[in-house]
Amino acid sequence: MMLVVSAGLFTPPVPVRSREAEVRDRGAVTFERGSAGYWDDRYTVDGYLFGTEPNRFLVERTATLTPGRALSLGDGEGRNGVWLAEQGFEVVTVDLSQVAVVKARRLAAERGVVVDARVGSIRDLRWEPQAFDLVLLFFVHLPGHVREGIHRGVVSTLRPGGSYLAAGFTLEQVARGGRGPGDPDHALSLSVLRLELDGLEIVHAFEGDVDSDRGGSRHVVELHARRPGTGYGT
Ligand SMILES: C[S@@+](CC[C@H](N)C(=O)[O-])C[C@H]1O[C@@H](n2cnc3c(N)ncnc32)[C@H](O)[C@@H]1O
Repeated sequence: MMLVVSAGLFTPPVPVRSREAEVRDRGAVTFERGSAGYWDDRYTVDGYLFGTEPNRFLVERTATLTPGRALSLGDGEGRNGVWLAEQGFEVVTVDLSQVAVVKARRLAAERGVVVDARVGSIRDLRWEPQAFDLVLLFFVHLPGHVREGIHRGVVSTLRPGGSYLAAGFTLEQVARGGRGPGDPDHALSLSVLRLELDGLEIVHAFEGDVDSDRGGSRHVVELHARRPGTGYGT
């Protein structure tokens, strides 16, 4: 008797791929540091990459501020924006990473607050004049010429009496290696910030070592500037 093999049954076996091959193939597609894909990859982890507790400097500097309308630039997974909403601020956040923004929205829902968390680049923002009482830029390291433009936008979008809080790594931290931006042009310094924020008055300025909540110490700039005039917080 002739054996008939149906075409449907005669499928080639699925090749078994080794763990090494999978890791190698994933490694072949990487994104440029600082791009949306780079941040999406970094945020694709169980839990929150930078935790869910707000930044210490944010908590300190807002202790005496009256809640108003806040914009958090590069807010990541929402630890700062969500905390501000819990304090009574009306919060808009913007981040390049869709993965981070989904996590930020989830954190806000878990905490029972509303945050208008948007995906996009802060390079593309249209800055509404005098729209915010508080603007944050925490650990978002951009090329100098880009940051300069962002700072022009920040100055224009603050209401009289409104506050700008910025924190980030310095050139010293870049020189040490490890955490922080790899490119010196992306580092912060107080002298450059003062120039870029012409039109704001400096309320508090610090450049030096702080304890990191992830262990060790790190060299940072922390700045609180304010738009002169009576209005918010006065
Ligand atoms: C080191 S994380 C800090 C996140 C958050 N500020 C915090 O303190 O937890 C830097 C964040 O900046 C975001 N970012 C970088 N460039 C950006 C851009 N051009 N527009 C919007 N977000 C940007 C990244 O997606 C990332 O979430």
